[in-house]
Amino acid sequence: MRLKKLLGLMIGMVFLLTHANILAAGGHGHNAPKKIGILLVAFGSSEASAQVSFENIDKKVKAAYPKIPVRWAYTSSIIREKLAKQGKDLDSPEVALAKMQDEKFTHVALQSLHTIGGAEYHDLRRTVSGFKTMGGFQNIILGYPMIATQKDMARAVDAILATIPQQRKKKEAVVLMGHGTHHPSNAFYAALMFQLQLQDPNVFVGTVEGYPEVGLIKDLMLKKKIKKAYLLPFMSVAGDHAKNDMAGDEEDSWKSIFTKAGIQCETVLKGTAEYDQFVDIWVDHLGGPLGHFK
Ligand code: CO
Repeated sequence: MRLKKLLGLMIGMVFLLTHANILAAGGHGHNAPKKIGILLVAFGSSEASAQVSFENIDKKVKAAYPKIPVRWAYTSSIIREKLAKQGKDLDSPEVALAKMQDEKFTHVALQSLHTIGGAEYHDLRRTVSGFKTMGGFQNIILGYPMIATQKDMARAVDAILATIPQQRKKKEAVVLMGHGTHHPSNAFYAALMFQLQLQDPNVFVGTVEGYPEVGLIKDLMLKKKIKKAYLLPFMSVAGDHAKNDMAGDEEDSWKSIFTKAGIQCETVLKGTAEYDQFVDIWVDHLGGPLGHFK
């Protein structure tokens, strides 16, 4: 029993000594001068129309944190491949972080520019914990997507109500097209619709790839005898989904489906990241991780 204790103590001391050596040699980057960086991570878009959204976020983040270098990464490999063919090189979060490690950043605040904490966001969390385990940075923290907490939900409701077209009359509908996902976080869309409707009963939230589906939104509007609807993307950029699935002329676009049901449609091709009200939520979330680096 005593021998075991002694052995344990010795092992502990050896561990401490070797670890102290690493610290003294500046291993793990603990002695490196503090260098804080921001990595903004979006799904990405290959549409030129989406660039205004990204530029707006970039501008606002740099205005809020003028002294901190800002890098970008896209989570979608399909988008990155498309852009590469156009000669535009965008990094994945992994590559962007490896480069930041090479640039001797010690603290990295990643900001997810996703709308909800779906599959892409959770992939990002895994990447962050991987880099945490590797120990390349002293600290690395991921900020919440736009809607994570109930406070975010309330802010998103306010932002939506503040940015719907001014000419819209109360008896006319506003239909937001969210992306939707197979991820459990898809429930955020219906929750958002519920909270919007507490304030404005004719605002609807549907998704392209999840629930609520377009057919349900159509039925809900018909039940309320709605004659006109404004269609808006509830995605950071007005990219492919907004242009084609929402506002396109094909038979299965939301505009065509609603028009066929007797609801006149007006489409607005503007992503949420083009409005300050939404961008402010992301920028504020960045304060979470950065607040830990002081
Ligand atoms: Co999609």
